[in-house]
Amino acid sequence: MITPLRFLQLCVLSMVLPTTSATTASASMLSGGEDGLHAEILRDEAVARLNQLGTVSDADGYLERTFMSPASVRAASLIRAWMEDAGLKTWVDYMGNVHGRVEGLNASAEALLIGSHLDTVVDAGIFDGSLGIISAISALKVLKSNGTLTNLIRPVEVIAFSDEEGVRFQSTFLGSAAVAGILPVSALQISDKSGVNVQDALRENSIAITEENLFQLKYDPQSVWGYIEVHIEQGPVLEWVGFPLGVVKGIAGQTRLKITVRGTQGHAGTVPMSLRQDPMAASAELIILLESLCKSPKDFLSYDGHCNDSTVESLSNSLVCTVGEISTWPSASNVIPGQVTFTVDLRAMDDMGREAALYELSNRMYEICERRSVSCIIERKHDANAVISDSELTSELKFAANAALKRITGEIQDEVPVLMSGAGHDAMAMSHLTKVGMLFVRCRGGVSHSPAEHVLDDDVWAAGLAILAFLEMHVDSQPRIRQINRGFGSRTCRVSEKAIPLTTSIVLRLQSAALAEESHTGGRDEGITVVVGMINSVQ
Ligand code: GLV
Ligand code: MN
Ligand code: MN
Repeated sequence: MITPLRFLQLCVLSMVLPTTSATTASASMLSGGEDGLHAEILRDEAVARLNQLGTVSDADGYLERTFMSPASVRAASLIRAWMEDAGLKTWVDYMGNVHGRVEGLNASAEALLIGSHLDTVVDAGIFDGSLGIISAISALKVLKSNGTLTNLIRPVEVIAFSDEEGVRFQSTFLGSAAVAGILPVSALQISDKSGVNVQDALRENSIAITEENLFQLKYDPQSVWGYIEVHIEQGPVLEWVGFPLGVVKGIAGQTRLKITVRGTQGHAGTVPMSLRQDPMAASAELIILLESLCKSPKDFLSYDGHCNDSTVESLSNSLVCTVGEISTWPSASNVIPGQVTFTVDLRAMDDMGREAALYELSNRMYEICERRSVSCIIERKHDANAVISDSELTSELKFAANAALKRITGEIQDEVPVLMSGAGHDAMAMSHLTKVGMLFVRCRGGVSHSPAEHVLDDDVWAAGLAILAFLEMHVDSQPRIRQINRGFGSRTCRVSEKAIPLTTSIVLRLQSAALAEESHTGGRDEGITVVVGMINSVQ
C-alpha cells in the first residue's frame, strides 16, 4: 500500500527524474491521448484556458468579474466558444448562465449536469470556479476527439453559473438557484451599491428576465440524473496529505448578515468621551464579540436544555465567522461617524448549531448597542443550509479520481481523501434539484480568494482525467433515490428563527429598550442536518 507520504515522494520523483520514470516518459511521448492521458487537452490546453480566462477582468491589475459585468459577459462568450469547440450545443439563459449540452444516445434520458461559476471575488485567483468549468469542457472535448461524445448513454450538460460569489448583490448562487428553482422572484429587485438591480443588470445585457421566465429556468427534477462539480479545495488538507484530488462529503451551511450601527455624528475635538454615541467603537465591540463567540461557542451557548453536547462539539470544530467588509459615514479623521455598516459571514456544519450561534450573537449585539445608546439593525441577507453529498455519486467520483491518479502515476493509489467543505459552492443550490457530488483539487498552501491561488498543471490534468473517467463509466440509468436527509431529526438547540428571520430588521432605538421587530420567513428553505466535524478536514 502506498502511504500519502510515499505518494508525494513518487510525484516529486516523477517530476525531477522524468527519464527514469516509465509513466512520465510514456505520458510525454503519448500526449495526444493514445495512452489515455490526453495531456494536450486535459493539461496543456486547460491550463492555457485558465490563464486566458484569468485575464478577463473588469479591473486593471487584478481579477474581478462580478455578476453581469462587462468582463463577465466577455468570459461567458469565451466559455461558450470553448463549449462549442468541444462539440456541445450552447445557449445563455435568462440569468446569464452559459449552457453547453450533448444529447448522447438518448435525448430523453435524465441528464448529468456538471458545473461551476464564472464570476469571481475582488482580487481573485484564476482557479476558483473556472477550474470546474474548464475541466468539464476539456473532458468532453476528449470524448469528441475519441468519437465517443455521441455514445454517451444520457445527455451531459456543462453549466457555467453566472453568480456564486455574491459580490455584486450580496446574494450568492443567483445562477444555480435559478436553475434549481429556489431563487425567489424578489431576488430580481436586489440592488447593488450603485442602485442597479438584478433585473436591470440583466436587461442592460439584452437579457429580458421577467417573473415568468425566471420560473421557466427551473429544471424539471425528473429530467436530471445528478450534478457534479470540480473545485479547488481552497484549504490546505489535500496538500497536507499529499493528494492531488479528494472527494467532498458535505458542505457547511452559511449565513450572511449586514449590520448597520447608527450613533450621533459629531466633532472629534469637542464632544466629551462620556457623551458620545459612537457607532465605530460600538462596531469594534460587536466584532470582538463575534470573534469570541466563534472561537469558543461553548462559552456562549447555554446548556439549559436547548443545546446538546454534540451540537456544541460540532460547532467548536466547524464554526467560522468573518467580517470582510466595513464602511463608515462620513469617513473623515476629525468626525465621529454617524453610521457604520459591516458584513458578517458565519458558517458551520451543523445548521441547528448555526442558528443557535446566531440567536446568541444577535441577543448579545442588541445588549451592547443598548448599553452604548446606538441603534443596531441586523439584516439577514443570505442563508444556505449544509448539504451532504450523495453517497453513490461520491463513490463514483472517488473511483474516477483513483482511476485518474493511477493512469497518471501507473501505480495503484491509496484511496483519495474524503473532505468536508467550508466554502460554499453551486452544488449547495443544485442539491435542491438533484443529488450532488464534488471533487476537490489540491491548491498551493490552501490559499484561495487571492491572486496567490495556484494549482499545479499536473493537478489540473488529474482533475480533467477524473471527470473523463467519470464520463466514461457506464452510468446506471435507473432512477436513484436521493440520499439526502432533509429532516432536522434530533433538533435540540434553541434557534434564532425569531431572532433574525430573513430580511428582518430589528431596531434598538436610541435611549430605549423597545424592540421593533418585523419578520417574514417566506421562501425559507427546509434544512439539511449534517453531523460531522472539522471544515476541510479529512474524514
Ligand atoms: C464562496 O467562495 C464562498 O464560500 O464564499
Ligand atoms: Mn467557488
Ligand atoms: Mn469563491
